[in-house]
Amino acid sequence: MKEPKGSKQTEVSRGRFSGRIGYVLAVAGSAVGLGNIWRFPYLAAKYGGGMFLFVYIILMVTFGFVMIVSETALGRMTKKSPVGVFHSFGKTMLFHFGGWINAIIPMLIVPYYCVIGGWVLKYLVEYLKGGVNLLAGDDYFTNFIASSGSVEFWFVMFSLLVFFVILAGVKRGVEQVAKVMMPILVVLAVFVAIYSITRPGALEGVKYFLVPNLENFSWMTIVAAMGQMFYSLSIAMGVLYTYGSYIGKDVDIEKSTTQVEFFDTAIALLAGLMIIPAVFAFSGGDMKVLKAGPSLTFITLPKIFSSMGIGSVVGIAFFLMFLFAALTSAISLMETSVSSFEDELHWSRPKCCLLMGVVMVMVGTASSLGYGTLDFVQIFGMAFLDFFDFLTNSIMMPFAALSTCLLIIRVVGLKKIIEEVEYSSAFRRKKMYSFFLKYLAPVCIAIILISSIANVLGWISL
Ligand code: PFF
Repeated sequence: MKEPKGSKQTEVSRGRFSGRIGYVLAVAGSAVGLGNIWRFPYLAAKYGGGMFLFVYIILMVTFGFVMIVSETALGRMTKKSPVGVFHSFGKTMLFHFGGWINAIIPMLIVPYYCVIGGWVLKYLVEYLKGGVNLLAGDDYFTNFIASSGSVEFWFVMFSLLVFFVILAGVKRGVEQVAKVMMPILVVLAVFVAIYSITRPGALEGVKYFLVPNLENFSWMTIVAAMGQMFYSLSIAMGVLYTYGSYIGKDVDIEKSTTQVEFFDTAIALLAGLMIIPAVFAFSGGDMKVLKAGPSLTFITLPKIFSSMGIGSVVGIAFFLMFLFAALTSAISLMETSVSSFEDELHWSRPKCCLLMGVVMVMVGTASSLGYGTLDFVQIFGMAFLDFFDFLTNSIMMPFAALSTCLLIIRVVGLKKIIEEVEYSSAFRRKKMYSFFLKYLAPVCIAIILISSIANVLGWISL
């Protein structure tokens, strides 16, 4: 089919993926991140094992699918990052709001994401230096995150890696890195998962993770699965608009979306199979440990690795995989931020990278010192890192998603989105897409928003 008038001209100055494989790997790189590795396993353990997986998968192939297709199609249609996407359809306050909220979210996430990336880099380097027992020491993690100078150093190291990839451009930087790192990540994940599930006593953990447990199932299972799905698939963070703007009309959006969802879920499942059986095999499946969240990865796992025969090797494999996952996600967040600056300020790419570097250092330093030198500063009872995480995921993200739904329903029209998808091939799930976008997506988004606020006010506990 024909490209719409004018799109050729804008594409010349815009980055572009070389083809579908590069695009799918880059989106999968964005999706597979810290969320898959530390968040998914503990949420599954907490909210009913197989029941959580079931709800998660249903939501992903319906609600998640609708949101990914919508953002990608809008990005490709307009060849712009979020602000430009909204401005292509109108310039009133509401359009400014919709565009900027989608653009600001990645700018606020990437600094704290790089702080955590720095922690991962530090752990990998320590494993490479043979520190398997050191990392397993009591209070190692707590002391580390409180040691401001060290945390800042690793944050800067990780950010520099991201920075240089973005500077190299879309095809030579973002796409190349995804093409190299994602296959290695899969191999490492399979290796660690197989090692973990073949330990004596690990099978109990596999059962706990995969068999539906109705006792732990509640309304909160659905709410938690919905929030996790958004974060894990990088929805409502501007990334999918931006990556969509880098693809040609020949890329099959529907098929690519399905492949990304498959990839993301497969890695989340593998992460569960690495972590939960290991906890069962080495510490008897202590429920408190399993449901503990981030400390599972940075405190419990190193203890487990140190009691394994080949703990150093498994530690290196796990943290290398973790590093690749974090890097490709951070790259997508930084690319989106830089792309918004390029579109809106019309500056050169290096200049936009530099501007984003300044934002990173300012916001990231607050997060990196938040558990040490700046621990006296609490925003609504939260350290900086937790506050930015809460603000972006719980408050801003539902509004960003709602803006996208409203833009399509009220302004662009479903017909245009369907036409955009059909440029490359038939849109097989067209009916489901239309129904979900119109009726169910806004309800689901409202549920996420209300439950996040209720969680912070202490009315419910997520
Ligand atoms: N999807 C990533 C993860 O699961 O860790 C995190 C993420 C990356 C969120 C990019 C948002 C985003 F735009």
